[in-house]
Amino acid sequence: MKVYSEIDALQKQISILKSEGKTIGFIPTMGALHYGHISLVESAMKQCDVAIVSIFVNPTQFNNSDDLLKYPRTLDSDLALLSSINCSIVFTPSVEEMYPENRSVTQVGLGELAEIMEGKFRPGHFNGVVDVVSRLFEIVQPDKAFFGLKDFQQVSVIRFMTIKLNLPIEIIPCPTLREDSGLAMSSRNIRLSETDKVDSLVIYRSLQLAKELITNHSPSEVIKRTIAYFETSKLKLEYFEIVDPVTLKYLEEDWVNGATACIVAYCGDVRLIDNMELV
Ligand code: PAJ
Repeated sequence: MKVYSEIDALQKQISILKSEGKTIGFIPTMGALHYGHISLVESAMKQCDVAIVSIFVNPTQFNNSDDLLKYPRTLDSDLALLSSINCSIVFTPSVEEMYPENRSVTQVGLGELAEIMEGKFRPGHFNGVVDVVSRLFEIVQPDKAFFGLKDFQQVSVIRFMTIKLNLPIEIIPCPTLREDSGLAMSSRNIRLSETDKVDSLVIYRSLQLAKELITNHSPSEVIKRTIAYFETSKLKLEYFEIVDPVTLKYLEEDWVNGATACIVAYCGDVRLIDNMELV
């Protein structure tokens, strides 16, 4: 496995691969890797000749400096995990390498996408995501890029960005990996105690409850009943919404195919995100 921290060296290697006609699958991450990330790498290895993983904790997408400070950093074990599955290339740039002083920031007018759910509660977050992912795409120039549906809205934002910037990259959404308990795998789970993990199961259970309720209730009624159930727990709810999977418009009266419940809650100061397709 080759590990590059400099753009020039990485790009030399990529141009060799491209000259050999190899297809490139790219998986951007912020490290603290778990099997959710690994499942994306495995999909890339199946669908492309070479998988390139980036590990970069992107400061511009954190709207809370404490969250950035506490974000887990486990580079050695990340590299060991990637090497154990025969990943070929890892890119681990520094902040200076990614963001040189004179660089121009890539912005895409995200419209309503940046105003609802994550956009509403993490102002500026998606501008940071667009900026870093577009820069990584420019550096790696992959054929396909793999993103987890755990970050449901992020997938929509990346798709939108790719179309707006006219990038010849196929965006591949991948399913959410969960612990046996149902808890969605997340880098932030490292910060949960065993008791926190049990308490946090209310997130998955709320999503399951919502799915059970759809037959007899409108989206608004499902939201009301699910929130009432959630509020008996120790976690603090940030939002619970049901959205159209394509437009991400909030659903109230009528169901559509692929309607998806999206939830964010805090267990102590750990922010947890999850979602489930209901229909
Ligand atoms: P990060 O949270 O490290 O996630 C990297 C990728 O792994 C994302 O596409 C995310 O949706 C996916 N992922 C996380 N948990 C998953 C799970 N349980 N199952 C399946 N996939 C999962 O998302 C980011 O980093 C950043 O915003 C990034 C795109 C790298 C830009 O900085």
